[in-house]
Amino acid sequence: MYVSKVGLVDFRSYDDVVVELDAGITTFVGRNGMGKTNLVEGIGYAASLSSHRVSADLALVRRGADRALVRVEVQRDGRAVLVEVEIVPGRANRARLNRAPVTRAREVVGVLRTVMFAPEDLALVKGDPAERRRFLDELLSLRQPRFAGVRADYDRILKQRNALLKSAGQARGSADIEGTLSVWDEQLATVGAEVIVTRAALVADLVVPASDAYSAVAPTGGDLDLTRVSSVEGIDEPGLTRDDVRALILAAVATRRREELARGVTLVGPHRDDLLISLGGFPAKGYASHGESWSCALALRLGSYELLRRADDGGDPVLILDDVFAELDVGRRERLAERVVEAEQVLVTAAVAADVPAVIDGGQRVVDSGTVRRPTDL
Ligand SMILES: Nc1ncnc2c1ncn2[C@@H]1O[C@H](COP(=O)(O)OP(=O)(O)OP(=O)(O)O)[C@@H](O)[C@H]1O
Ligand SMILES: [Mg+2]
Repeated sequence: MYVSKVGLVDFRSYDDVVVELDAGITTFVGRNGMGKTNLVEGIGYAASLSSHRVSADLALVRRGADRALVRVEVQRDGRAVLVEVEIVPGRANRARLNRAPVTRAREVVGVLRTVMFAPEDLALVKGDPAERRRFLDELLSLRQPRFAGVRADYDRILKQRNALLKSAGQARGSADIEGTLSVWDEQLATVGAEVIVTRAALVADLVVPASDAYSAVAPTGGDLDLTRVSSVEGIDEPGLTRDDVRALILAAVATRRREELARGVTLVGPHRDDLLISLGGFPAKGYASHGESWSCALALRLGSYELLRRADDGGDPVLILDDVFAELDVGRRERLAERVVEAEQVLVTAAVAADVPAVIDGGQRVVDSGTVRRPTDL
């Protein structure tokens, strides 16, 4: 699939802009702060109804305006589909599909599929485990939309169980609370096992495309490997079923009951898990150089792109590379460009045009204070 037109009204720094795009590679070039990232953020928003930069919508609406409108025309299987999202901070989004309002805005999620690499992704390598869990869960939700519901159930169970642990810790030894707690243990174990097993399958599928992407961009310095790290003891035995994992979670919460009551939080489960990213056998976090960490994060996104593209669901996703080239050496830039040159659509941003290798600088657009034009336009 590819995006053939983007319209932004009162989105970020744009008051009203329409940009027409072709399949293949488009490079948005412009000085710092001119609106390159804002533009691709808008496209990403139409795909997922979320921004890669902020969790609240307020910053997405142009200062002084009260709502923003993102309009994206997507070409899928030879047909044009129009996705429109209205963002009103503090209220639910409203969306339209081919000009017809949809009941819930979420219905438009997935019509456009994007995979974005952005500077924020460095946190996948250097940041807390929560960043890597979010990465896995977002990718899973794209691959199997049912997973988003499972993940939401798990969060709800966790919240309730934590609240109960807190009150149980205060009302020591109450038989009532103990009984209720064991009901929540069961739920935590059932849904937690599903999250753990689904994530494990994803990591198993991702490791090869991600490490291939890493070696393609960065042929020296060792191979990339991904391993999950779990808070649940015994989980690394090969071939465990969902029921086995469920039993392991139940055993683990039983062992740590006293500690959980004392601290008032759930200490075992997928919300405490992590993904270990290693390079040449050493954890990237702590060992990798800046450029290597950047390449690792990029490889995770390129690997995700490969996985989604194999899903064969409406065509290849759109690959967005925000500011990717600035931090790579010349060799890595060239190899990355070679790797993506055949993709159905790639949107690249760069503050310095010379950072973009020549093989992919064809469809250039100049971004300059809220306007986007071809270099030949006056
Ligand atoms: N809600 C908003 N209303 C008005 N302007 C905004 C809003 N949010 C962000 N901006 C402005 O948008 C401008 C452009 O931001 P953007 O991140 O797109 O720049 P960029 O071209 O990607 O720059 P860089 O090369 O530094 O990455 C910034 O100056 C920022 O202050
Ligand atoms: Mg930017």
